[in-house]
Amino acid sequence: MKTQKNHRRVAILSFACIALLPLSALFALPASAASDAPAVALSEGWRFVEQDGESLYRASCQGCHMAKGEGASGAGHFPALADNPRLAGAAYPIYNVLHGRHGMPSFGKYMSDAQVAEVVNYTRTHLGNNYADVVTAEDVKKLR
Ligand code: HEC
Repeated sequence: MKTQKNHRRVAILSFACIALLPLSALFALPASAASDAPAVALSEGWRFVEQDGESLYRASCQGCHMAKGEGASGAGHFPALADNPRLAGAAYPIYNVLHGRHGMPSFGKYMSDAQVAEVVNYTRTHLGNNYADVVTAEDVKKLR
């Protein structure tokens, strides 16, 4: 009789654990997402108002890649954009900004083609980068 009662207790307990499992996963998610995304909170329908490359960089990139593009590591890894040879081909940064990449959010919905072109041009001609070819809104449109 007593062991039967214990069995039932164990059964209730393990059921409770299984039921709570997805809940705990749900609560763990915003915390880890927050540490990956320290500065930018984007919501549906929201658009950047800045138009020039430097202002867009300050508003949308600096929070993770830092003021001089030096990057950061700690809660997450934010690669340096300063002196970064991976920016030599314009398509790569355009694609990253439009569609995101792992821990980096996508900005395609929050910026026009011209804004993406501006911020990519700024990044490729500042922060120790010196790539002469200029990205146009048309280039961005093709990669959307
Ligand atoms: C919320 C943080 C965050 C913001 C804001 C952000 N990035 Fe990133 N970015 C990242 C992370 C994290 C990576 C690395 C992704 C990976 O794992 O490859 C990255 C990677 C990149 C890369 C590729 C670098 C390389 O060496 O491969 C480029 C280019 C880039 N970001 C440009 C930008 C630009 C331009 C902006 C602003 C429009 C921006 N990022 C905004 C987090 C961010």
